[in-house]
Amino acid sequence: MRILVTGGLGFIGSHTCVELLNENYEVVIADNLSNSSIDVLDKIEKITSKRPKFYEIDVCDKEKVSKIFNENEIDAVIHFAGYKAVGESVTEPLKYYRNNLDSTLTLLEVMKKEKCHNFIFSSSATVYGSPKELPIKENFPLSTTNPYGTTKLMIEQILADLSKADKDLSIIVLRYFNPIGAHKSGLLGENPSGIPNNLMPYIVRVADKKLPFLNVFGNDYDTPDGTGVRDYIHVVDLARGHLKALEKGANFKGIEYYNLGTGIGYSVLDLVKTFEKVNNVKVPYKIVDRRPGDIDACYADPTKAYKELGFKAIYGIDDMCIDSYNFIIKNKESHK
Ligand code: UD1
Repeated sequence: MRILVTGGLGFIGSHTCVELLNENYEVVIADNLSNSSIDVLDKIEKITSKRPKFYEIDVCDKEKVSKIFNENEIDAVIHFAGYKAVGESVTEPLKYYRNNLDSTLTLLEVMKKEKCHNFIFSSSATVYGSPKELPIKENFPLSTTNPYGTTKLMIEQILADLSKADKDLSIIVLRYFNPIGAHKSGLLGENPSGIPNNLMPYIVRVADKKLPFLNVFGNDYDTPDGTGVRDYIHVVDLARGHLKALEKGANFKGIEYYNLGTGIGYSVLDLVKTFEKVNNVKVPYKIVDRRPGDIDACYADPTKAYKELGFKAIYGIDDMCIDSYNFIIKNKESHK
């Protein structure tokens, strides 16, 4: 089976390409390198001994997307490409709506023309807004708090409408909880430029003494230690979830939604303490004001993905902390 992976050189995309290649799928990557680096292609090859076909294109460019389909028989598309910084989406909403919606519509139009019927979409737990109950099930009400999240929700709506109109389609929407960790080899991981927005990239830079301390955004949340609770999932587990979704998609028509999480919530301080312990480093922190838009707690009910996809996360929080740090120390040059 030949899979087109958009955003295949990004954090989750690259780990998914490795898992696909290890399972002997053929992989074609489309990535415009806007938030990724071409070195990742070499690293994927180093890990798997296979070099995926690569197109440096913007997925909003219909002619170029069509060219990929003309040159390769594509059986399924996994669509990761998209902007994902919550804060930036608030200050630059048009950029987010234009890019995230346009790329998805373009891909879907070309797929329709080329009769490619299998689509897997990277959604996010952000579509559950501020959940009234925990753990979060797929049928909970949906809402968003920022333009990034709204692009995910709008795309989910487009996919639901499309699925009603085209009965040949198989669409799987994967709602990711908080992906962290890195490939065990230390070759692939998350490498945001500038000051990181998300918790784990910030922790690793503090541990590596590139930043003086972590700002813990609030300790008065309704959680056991007062700091925010999230469902962190190892990126390799998340990547494996896409293979399960592909297997499901091959024998199914319609649209389905799955949470990809572990079902376990850890607080900011749980993560800091675990990181310090397993890596034997110090992560100094200060409690500061809450970050606007953050919620108390968010963790998945992973039962549906387990029952219907046979997916279960195998890595625990210790592995996530060890692998995140391992990636940073093995790649020091690029983090100066
Ligand atoms: C955000 C996005 C989510 C996206 C995820 C990963 C929203 C509302 N959230 O999740 O869609 O999938 O990023 O890209 O759309 N924290 C600190 N100090 C920091 C950074 C974070 O204390 O410097 C705390 C936060 O308050 C939160 C937890 O750490 O309690 C996790 O934050 P973060 O890693 O940014 O992820 P989310 O906000 O959960």
